[in-house]
Amino acid sequence: MPIRGAILLPGDKSISHRALMLASLTRGECVINNISTGDDVERTRKCLADCGIRSEKNGTTVLLKGGVLKSPKIPLNCGNSGTTVRLLSGLLAGTGVTAKFIGDKSLSKRPMNRIIDPLTKMGVIIESENGHLPLLLTSDKLIGINYSQPISSAQVKSCIILAGLGAFGVTKIQEKIKSRDHTEIMLRELGAEINNGEVVSIKPLKNPLDEFEINVPGDPSSAAFFACAAAMIPNSDLIIKNVLANPTRIGFFNIIENMGADIQWNNMKKEGGEWVGDVHILSQPLNGLHITSELIPSVIDEIPIIAILATQAQSPTSIQGASELRVKESDRIKAICQNLRSMGGDIIENQDGFIINPVD
Ligand code: S3P
Repeated sequence: MPIRGAILLPGDKSISHRALMLASLTRGECVINNISTGDDVERTRKCLADCGIRSEKNGTTVLLKGGVLKSPKIPLNCGNSGTTVRLLSGLLAGTGVTAKFIGDKSLSKRPMNRIIDPLTKMGVIIESENGHLPLLLTSDKLIGINYSQPISSAQVKSCIILAGLGAFGVTKIQEKIKSRDHTEIMLRELGAEINNGEVVSIKPLKNPLDEFEINVPGDPSSAAFFACAAAMIPNSDLIIKNVLANPTRIGFFNIIENMGADIQWNNMKKEGGEWVGDVHILSQPLNGLHITSELIPSVIDEIPIIAILATQAQSPTSIQGASELRVKESDRIKAICQNLRSMGGDIIENQDGFIINPVD
């Protein structure tokens, strides 16, 4: 059956985490509308509450009053959320808070050396379980660093930026391929001195951030599932309204357009410094595509759904340079290959990606 109509989606998860954390650095009442409904963002809100930052949630609106972050009396439980532990460790390091971070079984297996290394260079003292949670973080006076990130990761970049807000001197960060830049955009909107170029540079905060109200745009990662169904089911015609259209997040839509889907963005506007628009998807016959490393950061969470689409294309699709997928909540390369094979898919697994041949 074709997918036809218009839908609205819950708020973007990455922007929701950042809105909560940056609201804590204001001294006023902030309003976050259409906040992400998932558990990860709720973990961030609860961890902030454990650090003395109170908020109220009514449906999908959160009211949060900024203030002074305090060392929590209990371990901060980040659940399954990598964004919570990695961003919050930077935020807390920059404000001189001592905290212990814990998480669920999956989060406890994920690599934390990627934040331990730069934070240690900035002067934070971190104890860990061999580069894994639990992390015990103590900080006093931080110094700005010049850091060249070995991997493209917005979580790592944001951790360093947030720590840099409380460091002496300028912090500079470079990535080989630019990852999502919501932290940079939001900080700039709220009055921080940050340069969001090829090198991101951030000066320490002299004053609290400006209080704000934000309508979190729809999550492009959630939109990808509906868009995928519309792209591959003949005669589909779907509009997904009010979707975050930041160029570092819409790799999925560019890729399916290159595979042959008819994609149009309309009603573009800015919300909190971010591009937002309505995306219109019309089904068309699809071709396979060769997806290489420079595209991966902009599509990192959408690769599983691209794999599904690739099974329905008329020629093979290959994904390369995506080894980061192996250290997500699960090993996503292994999971994609195993699950597609069990459904009759023709897929070859590589260390940093896979090749999918269309099913007959
Ligand atoms: C996120 C960054 C990405 C992404 C994650 C959310 C963020 O992780 O996969 O779902 O909000 O900064 P990496 O930074 O590890 O690539």
